[in-house]
Amino acid sequence: MTMARKRVAILISGRGSNMTALIEAAADPDFPAEIALVLSNRADAGGLARAAEAGIATAVIDHKGFSSRAEFDAAMDERLRAENIDLVCLAGFMRLLSDSFVEAWRDRMINIHPSLLPLFPGLDTHERAIAAGMRLHGCTVHFVRAQMDSGPIIGQAAVPVALDDTPDTLAKRVLAAEHQIYPLALALVAGGLATVANERLVIQGELPTELGGMLVSPTFSA
Ligand code: GRF
Repeated sequence: MTMARKRVAILISGRGSNMTALIEAAADPDFPAEIALVLSNRADAGGLARAAEAGIATAVIDHKGFSSRAEFDAAMDERLRAENIDLVCLAGFMRLLSDSFVEAWRDRMINIHPSLLPLFPGLDTHERAIAAGMRLHGCTVHFVRAQMDSGPIIGQAAVPVALDDTPDTLAKRVLAAEHQIYPLALALVAGGLATVANERLVIQGELPTELGGMLVSPTFSA
């Protein structure tokens, strides 16, 4: 029995390299999700052109056109519903979301964050990991909850921190890992394999081997 592919919206604010990784993965007809919409809060987000080139519908809802976060979020919610979106992927979306928006998409909205959460929520994660003397750093895909960069963890990837790393060299290594785990995590959620119980990840049944690796850590070259 083939399940209908889930309709996914990707929310971006910038260059959209994670968005591109998701679009490329979903180009495979066997991938359990299709990218139905890329929505940006900024008209100048580089990712919009990349999405359009890939033939994906795009939309801009400029947060500056709204007098409150709640009104901006309501406009996004309306658009997502109009497009029959099943799942939302945040990919470098640089706006905090209101509690009511987060609740409306509870367990149907995921985010990628460039650290091994719960370490280093917020900004400048690579700089902070280096300053803390971390020898491992990485990235996390998680279900979104009202508190920023929190929520049940779906997958993580760890990368080594080199002693001479700068925030930029470390960011590049982590980003390569992000592009690997985000499509895997979306496949788990869209395929109904990853759910939440008691605010922890539950895997339904047997994990296909190609999806199993990222739950520990894929191997990366430094
Ligand atoms: C990524 O590092 C992601 O983890 C963070 O914002 C950055 C977005 O980069 N949330 P891109 O737009 O996907 O290239």
